[in-house]
Amino acid sequence: MKYLHRSLLALILGVVIVSLLGFCKEANKKKEMEKHAFGKTADGTPVELYTLTNANGLEAKITNYGGIVVSLLVPDRDGKPGDVVLGYETLEEYIENNPYFGTLVGRYGNRIARGKFTLEGIEYTLAQNDGENHLHGGPKGFDKVVWKADAVRSKNSVGLKLTYLSKDGEEGYPGNLSVTVVYTLTNDNELKIEYTAVTDKVTIVNLTHHGYFNLAGAGLGDILGHELMIKADRFTPVDKGLIPTGELRSVKGTPMDFTRAVAIGARIDQAAGQLVLGGGYDHNWVLNNGDGSLALAAKVYEPTTGRVMEVYTTEPGIQFYSGNFLDGSITGKGGKVYEYRYGFCLETQHFPDSPNKSDFPSTVLKPGETYTTTTIYTFSVK
Ligand code: GLA
Repeated sequence: MKYLHRSLLALILGVVIVSLLGFCKEANKKKEMEKHAFGKTADGTPVELYTLTNANGLEAKITNYGGIVVSLLVPDRDGKPGDVVLGYETLEEYIENNPYFGTLVGRYGNRIARGKFTLEGIEYTLAQNDGENHLHGGPKGFDKVVWKADAVRSKNSVGLKLTYLSKDGEEGYPGNLSVTVVYTLTNDNELKIEYTAVTDKVTIVNLTHHGYFNLAGAGLGDILGHELMIKADRFTPVDKGLIPTGELRSVKGTPMDFTRAVAIGARIDQAAGQLVLGGGYDHNWVLNNGDGSLALAAKVYEPTTGRVMEVYTTEPGIQFYSGNFLDGSITGKGGKVYEYRYGFCLETQHFPDSPNKSDFPSTVLKPGETYTTTTIYTFSVK
């Protein structure tokens, strides 16, 4: 009897300890990743907002609607956190009018001329949603769909895995495309984005992230004083519809030369040439590292706050867009108005219109192959 009591006591104690341990683990998890309701889409699909926090106080809020990074808190040189991405506070505003603030972009980032391309002898027609051209995957691209979300954890990071099945024929693209994007916030102050995709029919894929950054703080001024370096000796000049001509042109002696850090605003307003066509910078740079390995692509320094952002990618190109379409008509987080050139984008990618440019690196994905790319945005101060 005495033994029975003892074993019972030991059992109860054991259960209490195990539950306590479990509780602590849960509480810990909660600290790194929180999940809240973010509203519903028009058809009633619930959408969530996830908060990822790292050991150094970096915090990213990401929603599974469009895979949007809603906010990104990064300390300045005095340790004061600031939100360095443009965006909204509510899902409704993202649904109503979003010039791709913080979104994932797919199936095809940037433009395809006249929305047409031919694959294995079949011509496909996509929507013309940017003048006569197709832009960022069409009217309902990956930036406007609800992704399935799962938390992923490891010792030094916290992550969010987003998956989406783009059906055969969606937005005019062939093949069922199964896409996975993993956002990870590491304790090395990296926001890492890993993209994978597989298809059951030959198709084209070019996925990217369309964050609008302002390292001084979103809504606090324009980005013209940010100093930018892009590791590229060449860029792809465009026509008036911002479709590459096919040429890979040297940046040497032009305002496109960012091989050494220069203020974005130093040469942006030109009377003629490529910057007039883009209304500022809205071009693809041909990264010097074209071999598919992860390498530094760009670095940005904001002198007043000391914040530094570096972009690493496995992609061959990067679209540098200087927020030329922002015009003060959008009021974002905290009631701040986003005026002309209040944000910049560095979208890692394959080159625009690659499906119609046989000399550009291929964006074709065949059944049995796996599309994989990685981009990392790292944050530090100087
Ligand atoms: C990309 C394009 C731009 C513009 C923005 C979104 O950067 O190249 O022309 O469409 O996205 O407004």
